[in-house]
Amino acid sequence: MVEPAERIEELRASIAHHNEAYHTLDAPEIPDAEYDALVRELTQLEADHPELAIGSSPTQQVGGPLSNLFAPVVHSVPMMSLDNAFTDDEVVAWSARVDRGLDLGAEAPPVTFVAELKIDGVACSLRYEGGELVQAATRGNGKVGEDITANVRGIDVIPTSLRPAAPSVLEVRGEIYLPVSTFDDLNDAQIAAGKPRYANPRNTAAGSLRQKDPLITAGRGLAFWSYQLGQVLGGPELSSHSEALDWLEGLGLPVNPERRIVDGIDGIAAFTGHWLEHRHDLDYDIDGAVVKVNSLARQRALGSTAKAPRWAIAVKFPPEEKTTRLLDIQVSIGRTGKATPFAVLEPVFVGGSTVQMATLHNDDQVRLKDVRPGDIVTVRKAGDVIPEVLGPVLTGRDPDSVPWVFPTLCPACDEPLVRPDGEAHTFCQNPGCPAQMQGRLEHFASRGAMDIDGFGERTVSAFVDAGLITDIGDIYFIDWDQVAGMEGFGEATIRNLQRAIEVTKGRPLASLLVGLGVRHLGPSAAELLAAHFGHLDRIADASAEEIAAIDGVGPKIAETVAAYFASDVAKSLIGKLRSAGLNLVGPEVADVPQTLVGKAVVVTGSLHGFSRSGAADAIKMRGGKNPGSVSRKTAAVVVGSEPGASKVAKAEEFGIPMIDEDAFVRLLETGDLPTS
Ligand code: IVH
Repeated sequence: MVEPAERIEELRASIAHHNEAYHTLDAPEIPDAEYDALVRELTQLEADHPELAIGSSPTQQVGGPLSNLFAPVVHSVPMMSLDNAFTDDEVVAWSARVDRGLDLGAEAPPVTFVAELKIDGVACSLRYEGGELVQAATRGNGKVGEDITANVRGIDVIPTSLRPAAPSVLEVRGEIYLPVSTFDDLNDAQIAAGKPRYANPRNTAAGSLRQKDPLITAGRGLAFWSYQLGQVLGGPELSSHSEALDWLEGLGLPVNPERRIVDGIDGIAAFTGHWLEHRHDLDYDIDGAVVKVNSLARQRALGSTAKAPRWAIAVKFPPEEKTTRLLDIQVSIGRTGKATPFAVLEPVFVGGSTVQMATLHNDDQVRLKDVRPGDIVTVRKAGDVIPEVLGPVLTGRDPDSVPWVFPTLCPACDEPLVRPDGEAHTFCQNPGCPAQMQGRLEHFASRGAMDIDGFGERTVSAFVDAGLITDIGDIYFIDWDQVAGMEGFGEATIRNLQRAIEVTKGRPLASLLVGLGVRHLGPSAAELLAAHFGHLDRIADASAEEIAAIDGVGPKIAETVAAYFASDVAKSLIGKLRSAGLNLVGPEVADVPQTLVGKAVVVTGSLHGFSRSGAADAIKMRGGKNPGSVSRKTAAVVVGSEPGASKVAKAEEFGIPMIDEDAFVRLLETGDLPTS
């Protein structure tokens, strides 16, 4: 049995990872249903072990971390999340909590609800002042979102001016989405242009909103449904949510017509049942219904928890299932060498899109499910990217079929595949494996990391095949004369690529850390490391204990980070990145003059104005090194009170300048040593 504390930590790390994948990178790695199951398990464990609950747990947070693409916007009224109900019983339990919370007397009228569709898009808050659109922001972490005004102005259905009688301030919350028909057109155009398909409307909507060029967003055909008020000043007296929605509609805002005032559990069940069956009749994806207490006075009486209002519940649809034929099982190799088996399927429409491939996770999963090429299998998909094969339909199985066997050799490099003891996954351990190399390079260039425009799968694979690059450091030393001779790389393409690579030299340290692809190290932990240590060299020198001491960085991340930087591969890679001139300095110290670049300064004895680690920080922040011993390469030895005898002796032996604290301060400021 795993200890609850251990499982809780594991779940928190995993949820944080998937939050980043979903919210920041727009690239979810697991189906929503699986994510929800992780959150539910964590919520239950925290409820069973209140002593282990903490405020920074993902169960207490809304949404994901912010990217650094857009300016921050502080929401005047927080943008809350919703609690979920997955079963009828959970809806009944919620409704009972509402009744109890309102403490209704015998005379009081029963609670009525507004049932709405749960639009699967990107939450957005629009702010109108004097009837004019002045700001649009994403939800972000619920308190602070991202300013996407310029991009939102290009969404046709969002009015830039409201109809007369608009209040002095109106904030309206709603969902930006991509209509399914527009999504299909976009994919047709992608395929015609020989480009890869977009995964699903939600991620495409999120990606379209995150464009730096508003014209690109405007061309995507995004749309919007309003569903909630934020801050309102100077508006009419409203007593119910349904009145609020009607009022928004009257002002010219798009409000989804499929909303109903319903009574009691039966009314809710009729609404959700209807839409579960008819969800694909709509031209937008929904992943459930949202039920809200209609009376605004009752909403106020019920209030909210840290994360979600008590007066609303999201009733989530179960994932859709279909059957189709399993044509083959193949294995793909990721950037860490992980070998993931996947199903090649006869195309089937499920969960809002056509599915041709589905993950089988690992060897045990294939064995457990015992799916065999040729079988008819059940496929499940929950309106997101990774569909899942549930199992075979045994009645149709060919009596001669045999269980599938995991390959022993890597399909990309023919080296042996190894499953380490106690691990669920199998790995290709050849660091030179072209599939891993390709994965690492693509990851480094991806939007969540160094964001090299135009350096996608095709370019990477062309450059790897041509032997131009084997690791991410090589990106900065590409032989462009050789590229000029390659098909598909004209002058303009090359110029754009060179420029795109050049600008990454100034990217934040956190982006570089993410780009290195250290296992478990996602954007938020990378930000914490960059801000705490201030320089890549200090991160590389830090022990796992020092890293784990940072609030918000777990021991698992700390260990992989420390092990990564201790490796020879990392050392030589960082050498390359340094000589390419990449920014290695964290956010707080970015403005500190780099007076000590390449200089090693040793400190011995105690100083008045600096602690031992403070002196080391000061040196490293200025680009210098702070080794523990004196060598011929040492630039200076700072001598405090009670210095180490061996350091002083070495300095004398090698003729290294020895300086006092005042001269050390001048050295930090100017990079100069005292003359004489
Ligand atoms: S109301 C304070 N209504 O679902 C309540 N949210 O899982 C705010 N969503 O963050 C939300 N359709 O992005 C509400 N009809 C609807 C919705 C809806 C989709 C989204 C919204 C919210 C998320 C929670």
